[in-house]
Amino acid sequence: MVKKGLFSKMLATYTIIISMSLIIIASFLSYWFQNYFLDQRKEQILNNSYMIQTYTMKYMAGDATWQQLNDIITMIAENIKSDIWLTDSYGRVYAISNKEHKELMYKQVFVKELEELRLGNTFEVTGPYAGVLDKTVRVYGIPIMNEGTFKGSIILYNSIEELGQSLKRVYEIIWISSIFAIIFSCIVIYYFSQKIIIKPLAEINSVARRISNGDVDKRVYLKSNDEIGELAQSFNFMADSIEKNEKNRREFISNVSHEIRSPITSIKGFISGILDGVIPQEKEKYYLSIAHEEIQRLTRLVNDLLDMSAIEAGEFSLRIMEVDINEIIRLTVINYERKIKEKRASVDVCFDGDSLFVAGDRDRLVQVITNLLDNSIKYVNEGGKIKISSKSKGKKAFISVFNDGPKIAEEDLLHIWDRFYKADKARTAKDSTGLGLSIVRNIITQLQEDIWVENKDNGVYFTFTLMKVK
Ligand SMILES: Nc1ncnc2c1ncn2[C@@H]1O[C@H](COP(=O)(O)OP(=O)(O)OP(=O)(O)O)[C@@H](O)[C@H]1O
Ligand SMILES: [Mg+2]
Repeated sequence: MVKKGLFSKMLATYTIIISMSLIIIASFLSYWFQNYFLDQRKEQILNNSYMIQTYTMKYMAGDATWQQLNDIITMIAENIKSDIWLTDSYGRVYAISNKEHKELMYKQVFVKELEELRLGNTFEVTGPYAGVLDKTVRVYGIPIMNEGTFKGSIILYNSIEELGQSLKRVYEIIWISSIFAIIFSCIVIYYFSQKIIIKPLAEINSVARRISNGDVDKRVYLKSNDEIGELAQSFNFMADSIEKNEKNRREFISNVSHEIRSPITSIKGFISGILDGVIPQEKEKYYLSIAHEEIQRLTRLVNDLLDMSAIEAGEFSLRIMEVDINEIIRLTVINYERKIKEKRASVDVCFDGDSLFVAGDRDRLVQVITNLLDNSIKYVNEGGKIKISSKSKGKKAFISVFNDGPKIAEEDLLHIWDRFYKADKARTAKDSTGLGLSIVRNIITQLQEDIWVENKDNGVYFTFTLMKVK
C-alpha cells in the first residue's frame, strides 16, 4: 500500500512539474521561433529587393526591356518563394512574377499604403490584402526612390499558409522533443525514486513487519548518509530496544516462575509427606511451620511483584504529605529488633534533631526504609554494626543506611537495582528474590529524588535524598 501510494504520488507530482515546465519552454520556443522565422524571411526579401530595385532603375532609364525585368523578378520570386509585383508611382501594377495574377496588370492595387511608400517608408501587413487576393497573405511593400522622388514600389508577398507549412515542421520538432524529454525525465525519476526512496522504505517496512511478528533480531542493512539512512539507523536502535525488552520480559517470566515454583515444590513435598505418613507425627508440626514460612515468602513475593508492576505501570499514585522520616526509621528499627538480635548486630541511629519533616508517601517511605534495613541485616557481619542516619542539608534531607560487611563488587554495582538481580547467586532460595532494591529505586524515582550506593568504611552505604518541608 505505502509503496504504491507514495510512489504514484511522487511520480504524478514530478511528471506534472516537468510537463508544465517543458510545455512552457516549448511554447516560448515556438513563439520565439515564429518571430525569428518571420524576421529572417523579411531580411531575405529586403536583400533581394535591392537587386530588383537596381533592375527597375535600369528599366526606367531604358537600359533594360520590360521582358528582361519581368524575367528577373520571376526568377527572384522563384528563388525566394514569394510573389512579386512592381507598381508605378500611382500604385498601378506593371510587372507580375506569377502569371496566374495577370488580371491585376495596370490595376491600382492599393491606395492606403501608397502614402507611406511616397514618404520613402516600407510597409508590412497581413490579411486578405484589400480584396485583391482571395487568400490571407503577408505583404511587404518597398518604395523605389530616385534622388528623393518616389518612382514606384516593389510588392512582395507570401501566402500565410505556406509560411505556416515551414513553421509547422519546426513546431513538430520542438513538441516531439518536449514529449521525449518528459518521458525520459519520468524514467529517470522512476529509476532514482525507486533506488533512493521506494526500495529502502520497502525494506524498512518488511523488517518492521517481521519484528512485529516476533523476529526481534531482524535489522535493516542500508548504507546511505541521507535521511533514509538516518531513518534506518533509528529504526535499528528501536529494534535493539525492542529486542532488549523482549529479552527482559522472557527473563522476568522465567525468574518469576522459578521463584514461585521452588516454595510451592517444598510446600507440596511437606504436605504430601504428612499425608502419606512418610513424616512421623511428632515432626509434622515442624514441617508445617516450614511450609508456613514458605507461604509467607510466597505472599511477600507476590506482593512485591504486584507493587512493582503497579509502580512500573505508573498506576500507583503517591499520596504526598508531610512525614517525619526519623519516626519512620525508629518504628522500622523496632519492628526488626528480633532479626537484629538474631544477628547480634548493633544498630546506631543518628539524627540531626528529634524530627525531620519531608515530603513523601508515608507507606512507600516505610517500604524503602524496610527494604534497606532488611538488606543491611541480611548482609551485616555476624556481631557487626548497622548505622542509620538522617541529615538535613539545604533544602534536602539525606538518609543513609550502612552496615559493615562484604563490599558489593564493581560489576554488580550497576545491576543491583535490576529486578531479580542478586549479587550473591547462592542466596536463591530462602530469603532473597532480588526485587527489594528495584522497588526502592522505583519509589525514589517517582518522588523525583536520587539514591546511590557506596562501598566505604568496610561496609556498604545506601543513601537517598528527600525534599524537606519547613
Ligand atoms: N547492604 C548490602 N550489602 C551487600 N550487598 C547488598 C546489600 N544490599 C543489597 N545488596 C546486593 O544487592 C542485591 C539486590 O538487593 P535486593 O534488595 O534487590 O534483593 P534481595 O535483598 O536479594 O532480595 P529481596 O530484597 O527481594 O528479598 C542483593 O542480592 C545483594 O547482592
Ligand atoms: Mg532486599
